[in-house]
This record gives sequence, C-alpha cells and structure tokens, in this order.
Amino acid sequence: MSLTETKTQPTTSFQSSSAPVAISVDGRIIAATEGELLIEAILREKEIPHICYHSPLMGPIQTCDTCLVEVSGKLVRSCGTTVSAGMQEVVTDSKRAQEARSEALDVILGNHMLYCTVCDNNNENCRVHNTALELNVKHQNHPFTPKPYEVDMSNPFYRYDPSQCILCGQCVQACQTVEVNETLSIGWELDRPRVLWDGGMQIGGSSCVSCGHCITVCPCNALMERSMLGEAGFMTSIPHDSLNKLIDVVKDLEPEMGYGAIMQVSQTEAKMREERIERTKTVCTYCGVGCSYDVWTRDRHILKIVPLHGESNQISTCVKGKFGWDFVNSKDRLQRPLIRHQGGFREASWEEALDLVAKRLGAIKQEHGPDSIGVIVSSKTSNEDGYLMQKFARVVIGTNNVDNCSRYCQSPATQGLFRTVGLGGDSGSIEDMGAAKLVLIVGSNTAESHPVIATRVKRAHKLHGQRMIVADVRMHEMAERADIFFRPRPGTDLAWLSAMSKYMFDNGHAKLDFLQKWVNNVDEYRRSLDPFTMEYAAEVCDVPLETLHRVAEEIAYAETMCVLWAMGITQHTDGSDGSTAISNLLLVTGNYMRPGTGAYPLRGHNNVQGAGDIGAAPNTFPGYQSVTDDQLRAKFEQGWGVELPNYRGFDNHEMVEAIHEGKLRAMYLAGEDMIYADSNANVVAAAFEKLDFFVVQDIFFSETCRYADVILPGAPALEKDGTFTSTERRIQRFYQALPELGDSRADWKITQSLAQKMGAPWNYQHPSEIMAELASLSPLYAGCSYERLEGYNTLQWPVDPDGKDQPLLYTDGFAFPDKKARLYPLSYHEPTDPPDSEFDLFLNNGRQLEHFHEGNMTNRVPGIQLETPESYVEISPELAHERSIASGQWVRLVSRYGALKSKVLVTDRVEAKQVYLPLTSHVNLLTGNHVDPATHTPAFKETAVKMEILPERGEDPLQRLNFRYSGKRTPQMGVEVDRKWKRADYHFPGEPALVQIQPASPAGGK
Ligand code: SF4
Ligand code: SF4
Ligand code: SF4
Ligand code: FES
Repeated sequence: MSLTETKTQPTTSFQSSSAPVAISVDGRIIAATEGELLIEAILREKEIPHICYHSPLMGPIQTCDTCLVEVSGKLVRSCGTTVSAGMQEVVTDSKRAQEARSEALDVILGNHMLYCTVCDNNNENCRVHNTALELNVKHQNHPFTPKPYEVDMSNPFYRYDPSQCILCGQCVQACQTVEVNETLSIGWELDRPRVLWDGGMQIGGSSCVSCGHCITVCPCNALMERSMLGEAGFMTSIPHDSLNKLIDVVKDLEPEMGYGAIMQVSQTEAKMREERIERTKTVCTYCGVGCSYDVWTRDRHILKIVPLHGESNQISTCVKGKFGWDFVNSKDRLQRPLIRHQGGFREASWEEALDLVAKRLGAIKQEHGPDSIGVIVSSKTSNEDGYLMQKFARVVIGTNNVDNCSRYCQSPATQGLFRTVGLGGDSGSIEDMGAAKLVLIVGSNTAESHPVIATRVKRAHKLHGQRMIVADVRMHEMAERADIFFRPRPGTDLAWLSAMSKYMFDNGHAKLDFLQKWVNNVDEYRRSLDPFTMEYAAEVCDVPLETLHRVAEEIAYAETMCVLWAMGITQHTDGSDGSTAISNLLLVTGNYMRPGTGAYPLRGHNNVQGAGDIGAAPNTFPGYQSVTDDQLRAKFEQGWGVELPNYRGFDNHEMVEAIHEGKLRAMYLAGEDMIYADSNANVVAAAFEKLDFFVVQDIFFSETCRYADVILPGAPALEKDGTFTSTERRIQRFYQALPELGDSRADWKITQSLAQKMGAPWNYQHPSEIMAELASLSPLYAGCSYERLEGYNTLQWPVDPDGKDQPLLYTDGFAFPDKKARLYPLSYHEPTDPPDSEFDLFLNNGRQLEHFHEGNMTNRVPGIQLETPESYVEISPELAHERSIASGQWVRLVSRYGALKSKVLVTDRVEAKQVYLPLTSHVNLLTGNHVDPATHTPAFKETAVKMEILPERGEDPLQRLNFRYSGKRTPQMGVEVDRKWKRADYHFPGEPALVQIQPASPAGGK
C-alpha cells in the first residue's frame, strides 16, 4: 500500500516532510511533497470538490466525502490521505469517483436547501453552491428535510440556522483547534445532528467569545454575520414571510425544472452583486497583532469582515476585528472642524479652523520659542500620518517635543531590548511563538489583549505539546490553561526573573558557548546576580520555592523558549528593568537567534510599533536615529531642508510637567484621549486647562477634546490609504474602503494643510510618497514601498533596499557594532505606593477582550455594548466575604490621587486584596505620578486604593449574554468524525449500503 489514509480525526495540524516526490494524477505527473495532503497536491493541478477541507491550518476534517478520488483503484478521501513515496496512480475523473462525489453531495443537500437566489450568502464564494454547480446537480435523491431546531439569533453578531447546516464541522474545527475557545461540537449521536454551543445551550451566554472563526470558515449560510442578513442580495431584504414564500416557490419548481435553471438564475443574481458590493483589504485598527482581512461594504454599510490571506492571522480575528467596525458610522463622528466659542464649540470651515491654528501656533512659536509647543502623534493612525506629524513638529515648529502613547505602555520594553540586543522590536514572528517548545508569559492577559496571538499559543499548547508557564497577578484564561501558573507579588517580577538567570549559571544550565560567542558583559552580570537566590526570590515575590524550582527546570530543559510580556511588566517603576531582566534570561539560556526563540513585548495599539519607528519620540528621528548624533541629524537636515534642534525634546510625561511649569504653551495632539490614557487624569486635565492653545485631532469628541481650542475631524483607517506596523514588525498596507465622512479628512491631509498654512512647501499627493520619503531616510524601512506592500504582501523590518526583510532578527549577530549582545546588571527595588493600613488594596488594571482601552471606539459598537454595557471592579470572593458585599454593589475606590465610583463584580480571577479595573473604567482617575525613571512610563500598576461601600446596589454588571457569565467550554480535539462514521445511517459513498441486521434479543427471541 503506497498511501496512508487518515482514519481518525487528526490531532495536530497537517505538516509535511520536505522530501519531493512525483505522483500521477489523471495520467499527468505532478510534483508533490512526501507527507502532504493529497488534496493539496491535486488542487495545485486541478479543481476538485472539497467542501469540508479548508486549508492546511484547519487540516483534514473528513466529514463531507465530496473529495473522493481513486488511488490504486480504491476510493479514498483525498483530504484524509497523505502523499507518500511510490504512491500509485491517482484518478479523480473516473466515473466511479465522480458518482461517489455526487452521492456525497446529494446526502449534503438533504441537510441544506438551495434557495441561493434569495440567500445573502450567494456571493460566488458559497462552497455548497459552487460544488452543486461543479457536480452539475439536477435533482436530489435525498430530499431536504429541515431539522427540528429553531434558528438561534441570541448572539448580537451572528446567527446559526440548523436547517441549513451541512454538518461539515469546519466551525467546530476552527473553534476547537484554531481559536481554541472550545465552545463548539457536533451532537453526532442526536437523531438529527447539529452544532452545539457548550454542549447544547443557546449562543448568547455560552462561552462563545464572538471571535468569528466559525462564521469565517462556514462554507454556506448556516452561520452568518447578522450584518449580512437582508443586506447582501437584491431580494434578500424582503420581509421574512414573503421570503419564505419565495423559498417555497423555488422548492416547488425544483422537481419540475431541476436545479439547472434555478442555479443559472442564482448565478446571474450573484454576478449582479459585484456591482454594489466592494471588497477592500484592510488592517485591523485595534490591537498590535496586525490582523488583516477584506472588508465587504455596500455603500457605507459594513457587510462583513473576511479574513483569509493575512500573514499574521489567516482565518483568525477577535470580536473587535470581526465585528467591531460600527463606530465608523456612529452618529458621534466628528464631521466638521470645531472652534471654541462662548464656553462651547461652533462648527467652522477647514479654512477658518486651519487659519486659526496656523496663526496661533505661529504666534506662540514667535513669542515663546519652538520648544513651547508639543506634538502628540497617535499610535492608531498610519505610519504616514505619524511621519508627517513628527516632521511637522521638527520642521515646521522646530522642536523635538514629540511623542506617542508607547510612553504609556511599550517604551520600557523597547528600552530593555535596546540595552541588551539592540533593536526595539519583537525578535521573531507570531509563527515563532507557535513553534516554541516553551512559552513564558509574564504580565500579559494575552487571550484578551492580543487574542489572535493567544490562539496560536493555545493551539500549540493543545495540539503540539508546547509547554506554557504564566506569571501574573490575575487568573486569566492563559493562566487557567498554563502548565505552571504562579502569582508573584505585584511589581516583583524582576526578582524571580533574575533568580532564574542565577539558577541557570549555578546549576550548569547557562549556555556558556553561546554567551562566549555572542554576549558581552557576562562576568559583571553574573556577579550582579549574587543577591538573587531562589530563596530570596521566593520571599520577595511571595511564591513557593518549589514553584520557582519547577519553573527554572522547565526553562533549563526547554529546547526553545519565547517570552511574551506586556503591561504587567512595563507599567511599573522598574518597567525597563523588568523588561531587561527578561532579555537577560533569554540571553543566558541561549534563546535568541533561532526559530521558536526570542523576546516578544506585545504591542498594544495597532500602530504603536510604527509610531516609534517613524520617529514620534523626543530623542529619535525615524528609524530610531538619535537627534543628538550630528551625522544623523545632518542627514535629516539635508533631507528636510531645515536646521534641526540638536537636543532631545520633552516626552509626553514631561510635556504635562512643562505645562504646569509654564514652559509648554501649546499642543497639537492627534488620536489620543490623553486625559484617560495618561496616569493621574486630574493632573493632566489641570495641565490642559493651562494651555494657551490646544488643538485636538480625532474622530470622536473625547474627554480630551473638552479642553481644546480647535478640534479637527480626522478619519479612521477605513477611510484612507496607509500602512501600519504590527507587533511582529510587520508593515502592511490598508486601502480606503469608504469615503471620508462629512468634512472629516485623512490625518496626513490635515497635517499637510496645516504645514502649508505655516509656510512649508509640502505637496504629497498620496501616502505612498510619504512612505518613499520615510524609506529614504530610515534604514529600517529602506526597502519599503507601496509596490512591494501591494495587497496582502508584507515586510518585516529591517527591510534592505532590495526588499529583503527579516522575520527573525539577529540571525547573524546582535544589533551592536561588534554584533554581540550585552547582559545588563540590575538591582531590585520595592514597588512604589504599596498598600498600607489606610489604602489597603492593590489596584490592577488592563484590557478587556471586547473593549479597546477606554472604549472610545468599542463603546460605539452596539453589539459590544449589548454584551458588555458597563464597567466594573473585580474583587475576590475573600474580599467580598470580608466586606459582606456581592456583585452589583456600588463602591467608591479612593487612591491618594483621586476617586471613582464603580459596581462590583465578585470573581476568583483576582485574589485576596487585589482588585482589577478594566481600562474602560477610567482607571487613571486613581493612578499617580510615579514613573519608570528610564522612560518616564507611568507606573499604572503601582497604586494602592481603599474601597468605600456605597448605599446603592444594582444588577450584576455582567449581562447574561456575556461569555464570562455562565459559559462552560466543551474541549475536544476537533470534530470527532469517527462518531459520525459510527452512525447507523452513515454510508461511505460509492460503496453498497450495508443492510442493518437486527441483533438477536438476549432472550433468544426475534
Ligand atoms: S468562540 Fe464563538 S465565534 Fe469563536 S469560533 Fe467559537 S463559537 Fe465561533
Ligand atoms: S454551521 Fe458549522 S457544521 Fe454547519 S455548515 Fe457551517 S461550518 Fe459546517
Ligand atoms: S487580535 Fe487584535 S488585530 Fe486581530 S482582530 Fe483582534 S483586535 Fe484586531
Ligand atoms: S473535503 Fe475531504 S471529506 Fe470533505
């Protein structure tokens, strides 16, 4: 036998060996790879039906039987068969194979009514429709019979229609093995099988996180985005009853006319849709993972998001990327420039608003000097928008007072990497995180903050035996799934991380050869580790010694390790040092320079990596080139044609201080609700009150806008062209899908108009020209161009002039002149603002899956609002018991800096006297002024509070629709197709049906 047929559901994604082989398909010799799925080899040569086979990522599911071919005269599923050396002849076009495939489809059509002309999924990409056409279906032998289940409309974003469900199981496979939320299964043993949520509850309120994987892969209309319903087709918007009558007409015609004519009508209707449905490639505008996908629009209506070709995400999205776009059409969008007037604002023309801004900034510059003005660049807008704004600060104003919000989260991570390995970016790709043998996650709620990255880790952990260690103060999903989870005392991570490094040296696990060849400063660093014994770490971090030993052994013996970290490390007074400790540990254990290794500070905003790259920083020009380096500055002076200041400017933290000190008089800020994003909101607000002139550019009237003198309406990504750079240094293009709303304008156009008004001869016609200029001045982006980034093409910096990029950094040395990394000695300091007898609780804070940061965009998405309408403070069951309160109780949290009111949610995600506020709660009313000295990143996660119980009591803040409410996952390794094959009514197409013989009764009767 020269082939291997997969008999059971695969438990790992399909991976082929690399040995090339030649196989014969319908008499033609084709190139294949030993171990690859036969269907993949065939599809390179010709089309054959394959309804349930989606992609190598999803692997073979083997539920539909429409891909049957003959191999050596035997009928096999080509998706469940792997190519092997010496494979005999493959025949796809024999009568037997064709008849078997038609029989398989006929069974499928017993579960699915072909009413394509009035179906919203009839867009030329419905795989059931296309297979029916391909197999030239005329009539059905297995008549369609609806299933005895209601359509489930309980989720705000999508619906499930059991009667249209062909039971292909792709949704289950996606949920169980790609998203790994483990909500879906198929009840194969039911009389009429169907897809089940949490084993049989309605969708709303199940553990479903609305990531949309299942809908994306569903080959028909059983799972559909609600935003499609009644919107995609020409006849699908007619009322439900009339629609049903039309469906009945179609059904009645079928026996007489056959499907041929009916399908022709539906084909024509589908073609007509091309006229009005636009499909535009875009990149997600929420977090830094960098998911890309097509957005389907009809006029301004967003029909759906279709991920497939994205390098970072393929079919993956989270709820925000898949369903979080309604904000672009919100009635709250700013559509006209506004000028402060009589205690409020009045609308103005662009001419008037820009004239005013140019006049006032010009006058302030004249009177107080260029350094009296500060510019804040948004890390949500594009590289091109940001590049122009920092250029505006430096060239038009003449100051280096320019920064972006990475100061609030990522600067310490960048600092830690600059100190040790030389480049401020993830050292590899998301692929490396999936490939690592061990993933160590420190201070990152990855499943909620970077959901698609979490899917790759969860998948590797579930299917490929990856080990996972999580260190966090809070029990989030990754913590629940981890092999080892421990809770260091808040703010003490540096101590245990350094103890790990010491353990490696002391116990012979340090990679001495690697260190000798590639790392400087080993002896000094090793000496600095003297205090960091395991016993010391156990005491400082309040972690059992035995746990630390287990962690150390896992790290020591892991062949490859990636460390993922986020704001749980960086938002401390030792944020830079904590990040450095991580990189030190990676160096000591030799976990750089190879696939599956490296440092991964997970970037928060969609373009926070890009904002740093393009020079939105007070000390660096684009490409992290120092403003104080004479040679580099001369290059920019020549490129920009002006003299530039030779000293660093204020960062955003210093800008606030400088306003209070009277040094900074005006600000131009884009796309940042700085009052709520910066710590100590009251101090920031007081500073804005003092500004002589304040310009805010945004898409909504944020809290920060309240302090502005002029508000300029910018445009979100869907309304312009540009590029974003994701956490894995991946530069990706997005394209304009919608016109700018009202009088709003793409941000680069606004900055250019302002620069022109202030005398700069800028004349960029398109963002591609801005990218070309950036590339000419920044070696990191040297080979970037819109041509090279066309469509779904991406580049990971540094990009050489010839376009060669670097998915994995440091493969031929580190980014220092001698190519050697540097171990960086550290010492431990206690966190600031610890709880005491008065402020007795530790306040933690962070993201929520469904909301982004303070919620300026997601609060304008009705479905998200329905699931999570209000914020809350999480408290532990112990604390609730001690204070005799329950979920729904109103409390006031008071810190040394401010106070806020919140409802309580009691949950064991937090323990003891730690409380957690999602960022939508405006947590920065409570945080203080202490910062990481190296970067001035506020220590958002070093705040003590007290909790006052208020008289009011309300409903549980979690709605029943929310996935946290009562969902119970049903993990399994995939679709479990064996259970289908065991059904009495299953029969392998092309084989004679078995006669069911009744077993004799035990009593020996009939
Ligand atoms: S979590 Fe929900 S939306 Fe995501 S794949 Fe599972 S069932 Fe579908
Ligand atoms: S709902 Fe799931 S099982 Fe049903 S057709 Fe869609 S992907 Fe297949
Ligand atoms: S994981 Fe991040 S980039 Fe991807 S869809 Fe979600 S928010 Fe968007
Ligand atoms: S595509 Fe092979 S069984 Fe469905």
